[in-house]
Amino acid sequence: MPTNMDITRAQDRADREALLRVAFSEISSDVDRAFDMLLAVPDDPRRRLFEAMRHAAIGGGKRMRPLLVKAAGALFSLDKVQLVRVGLAVECVHVYSLVHDDLPAMDDDDMRRGKPTVHKAFDEASAILVGDSLHDFAFEILTSEDTHPDPFVRINLVHALAKASGASGMAGGQMMDIVAENEAFDLAAITRLQQLKTGALIGFCVEAAAIMAHLPPEARTGLHGYAHDIGLAFQIADDLLDIEGDAALTGKAVGKDAAAGKQTFVSLLGLERAREQAQMLVEQAKAHLHHFDARADLLRAIADYVIERDH
Ligand code: IPE
Ligand code: IPE
Ligand code: MG
Ligand code: MG
Ligand code: MG
Repeated sequence: MPTNMDITRAQDRADREALLRVAFSEISSDVDRAFDMLLAVPDDPRRRLFEAMRHAAIGGGKRMRPLLVKAAGALFSLDKVQLVRVGLAVECVHVYSLVHDDLPAMDDDDMRRGKPTVHKAFDEASAILVGDSLHDFAFEILTSEDTHPDPFVRINLVHALAKASGASGMAGGQMMDIVAENEAFDLAAITRLQQLKTGALIGFCVEAAAIMAHLPPEARTGLHGYAHDIGLAFQIADDLLDIEGDAALTGKAVGKDAAAGKQTFVSLLGLERAREQAQMLVEQAKAHLHHFDARADLLRAIADYVIERDH
């Protein structure tokens, strides 16, 4: 017979799932609508580039990064339109990173978000230019007054996203990921790789809200800890999905990491310990939010979602 504790847990889970369903559905339509408007196809020879950008950016993906920006912004009651624009900027960098990650020179993948990858649907040159253009578009969005009226906030957002995207962040992590195919990395090195490759952009999402709220650095510790922990847990979940996931749900090929000789938390720790590690990180992430009230519930729900997800 279920105990009262079991019933409370089941109720908590149902509440969390309902909260996430609504939040993901709202942010997905906001992001799709904005991309649809901003990426209107021009009637000139750049048509193919815009069509390929739309193929990559519209209609797919979890939109977890824009949702994180929005959820972190809710802690400080920030303007929703501004938060969506910042979310759009980080999604631009994320989509660019996926388009380049799928190229034959990198992971050589044919499917992404349930559709052919950009270089398959178009061609490699288009995929390279889609990545370049989305990367730059992110900064065009951040530097617009519509994103934030305060130029100091805008320059801080630009600095934080640039750092999270380049050699000190995502691109640096992608390089380590390639090097790790041929060199043995220990747990500390793999952690750093994943932190840069995936964690840095996730960290930006939360940092952006702190920047927009003019939060002093000493007040950001809890948020940094939260972002650090869900970033690592998110990549462990991605690596687990590559082994145990279903391509029909993930929308991308599975079983590719082992085939390519990628070193991941899972290759180093094994399935069971990697799962435990991810669960521990999620609990730790939520503990970092202890001083926030119910306004942090969406961030808490996202932390659980990071490892419960099937895509
Ligand atoms: C996939 O990211 C690449 C990683 C950084 C692990 P997501 O799992 O967020 O991909 P989408 O945006 O939902 O397609
Ligand atoms: C890529 O990691 C993360 C990026 C910076 C794009 P993966 O190569 O594991 O991502 P998937 O599994 O192809 O989405
Ligand atoms: Mg990769
Ligand atoms: Mg890949
Ligand atoms: Mg992967």
